[in-house]
Amino acid sequence: MKILITGGAGFIGSHVADACIAEGHEVVVVDNLRTGFARNLNPKARFVMMDVCDPLLANLIDEEQPDIVDHHAAQISVPLSIEDPLTDAEINVKGLINLLEACVKHKVKKVIYISSGGAIYGEAQEYPTPETYNPRPLSVYAINKMAGEHYLHLYNHLYGLDYTVLRYANVFGPRQVSHGEAGVVSIFTEKLLKGEIPTINSYPEEPEGMIRDYVYVKDIVEANLLAFTNGSGETLNIGTCIPTSTRALYNEIGAQLGFCPQPQTSPARKGDLRRSLLKIDKAHEILGWQPSCSLTEGIAQVIDYYKNLLGEKV
Ligand SMILES: NC(=O)c1ccc[n+]([C@@H]2O[C@H](COP(=O)([O-])OP(=O)(O)OC[C@H]3O[C@@H](n4cnc5c(N)ncnc54)[C@H](O)[C@@H]3O)[C@@H](O)[C@H]2O)c1
Repeated sequence: MKILITGGAGFIGSHVADACIAEGHEVVVVDNLRTGFARNLNPKARFVMMDVCDPLLANLIDEEQPDIVDHHAAQISVPLSIEDPLTDAEINVKGLINLLEACVKHKVKKVIYISSGGAIYGEAQEYPTPETYNPRPLSVYAINKMAGEHYLHLYNHLYGLDYTVLRYANVFGPRQVSHGEAGVVSIFTEKLLKGEIPTINSYPEEPEGMIRDYVYVKDIVEANLLAFTNGSGETLNIGTCIPTSTRALYNEIGAQLGFCPQPQTSPARKGDLRRSLLKIDKAHEILGWQPSCSLTEGIAQVIDYYKNLLGEKV
């Protein structure tokens, strides 16, 4: 099949691109390198440097005729979405509509839409949270991801455009940037390798930090590959259903590195949820998917990646 991956120079999209190519698919990557990197691009993919808001996206889709569009491009920072809501809406809503219009016009068979199970449910009362829970988003990012899901349903209803929505938990793995607000595994690993003291953000009554559902990027990739041919019209949580506090995560990374100093602490940031944990039975039922990589194994991969990246500096 021919797969067009938006955001394919980013952390997750580039892993999806690699796996598609390894499976024998033809891949086109559309990315404006806003937060992605040329070094993540698979040389066997065709790379088109383009903004998803660009009207020329329709011409590209006409020219390429992809079977599947896998939409990973997004503004991904929760704090930034609150500071600058218009930019978030520009990319995450307007960019999506531009893409969907092009997909309908040029008869793309299916769109995989990446939503966020780690954000859209808000402070859910049901824990772990199933897809049937009524989302109560608590950030601009989460509202716009949720709006995106509605657009997918609408374009299916109006034009018959097939789709699967994947609601990711907190994804981690090699290539995740360590200088953003997300990606705490990368942030802790890089800082500890450099001998710096990381900071744990927490609410005063929960000093161990937030509870999160950390899922390794290879498992995320597998869910995408399965969704190419399964899960039509479905919305699926993709996580592990295993709760981990920021402190427990920190301790695991420190233990693997053999260097675990007392971390600094700082208040939770605007939009930080206290806990998030996804129920994942539906993805198993519909896609036959389940996570296979443990947090310990995944962290070992991230440590290897950072040791290579930082070279002799550590
Ligand atoms: N990382 C996570 O834990 C997580 C969790 C839930 C959902 N997601 C979603 O997964 C997707 C990928 O996230 P990621 O962690 O790989 O982030 P990332 O920042 O590494 O990847 C996003 C990519 O999109 C590109 N991009 C941004 N704006 C663009 C635009 N206007 N036009 C074209 N390209 C643009 C960036 O350059 C980057 O390569 C996003 O949709 C994100 O919302 C991520």
